[in-house]
Amino acid sequence: MTTASISDRHLDHAVAQVADVLHGKRRAPQVKAFFDESTFTVSYVVSDPATRRAAIIDSVWNFDQASGRTSFDSADRIVAYVEAQGLSVDWILETHAHADHLSAAPYLQQKLGGRMAIGHEIVTVQGVFGKIFNEGTGFARDGSQFDSLLEDGDVLAVGGIPLIALHVPGHTPADMAYVVGDALFTGDTMFMPDYGSARADFPGGDARQLYRSVRRLMKLPDETRVFLCHDYKAPNRDEFVWETTMLAERTANVHIHEGVSEDDFVAMRTQRDATLSMPRLILPSLQVNMRGGHLPEPEDNGVRYLKQPIDLL
Ligand SMILES: [Fe+2]
Repeated sequence: MTTASISDRHLDHAVAQVADVLHGKRRAPQVKAFFDESTFTVSYVVSDPATRRAAIIDSVWNFDQASGRTSFDSADRIVAYVEAQGLSVDWILETHAHADHLSAAPYLQQKLGGRMAIGHEIVTVQGVFGKIFNEGTGFARDGSQFDSLLEDGDVLAVGGIPLIALHVPGHTPADMAYVVGDALFTGDTMFMPDYGSARADFPGGDARQLYRSVRRLMKLPDETRVFLCHDYKAPNRDEFVWETTMLAERTANVHIHEGVSEDDFVAMRTQRDATLSMPRLILPSLQVNMRGGHLPEPEDNGVRYLKQPIDLL
């Protein structure tokens, strides 16, 4: 799946698609962003203006850890937009199993329809975290919680605009990026040029793989619109920003602009990751997101519980 020749062919396909939009041979998709400030997450609705078909990428299910209460404020903003625009949702995608927020994919599917998909390597993540949370045989580790598992090079349709899935491991083993027309949804491979890159120290993460994944995406044309999954502001920046261009990433990304070697990136990333504390919601997020956005089954009193492993992570 990740041999050089096959990977390059899939990337070439994505490059050609972006070029087609830039040369006016193909429609550009419409992209609407929704920022969840409590987790610094950006969700997207990407749609084909001609057919009104759409995909939702990386939704947020709000969770208050102190009380254990959930709410759908973030997801309901997406529902309202989709309904107001008269869009039909065909896909509800995750770029990866997030460690910092819960996914609202099942809620959105129930409200709006569409098929839930994530990268095929989610099975690896389910294996690792199934062990960490000591899940029993009731927890399937085969990705069956999702409707589709995507491989590098898979092509989905957003109306008349193809969506090309690219496997970009490193932040986690299962990370995918999605190219839709001239728009790239990077997930957590890279952040704004002034902020840099995502950590690679979660179980299954790998800084060297992350470097290679980013270098691969950086072969997309300079004018590619780049949409990020998170923004945390950056030193000397007061606003949240989540859209940039590949030219800006390639030339100015503080961690991984062209000219930064693989070894230098790995050394920087490893050193920096050693200083980071765990994301606030990592324990609830992974227990829910490895189940495709579902909570564990209720206990015999009808209540659902999440686990808190002690001294393990
Ligand atoms: Fe992430």
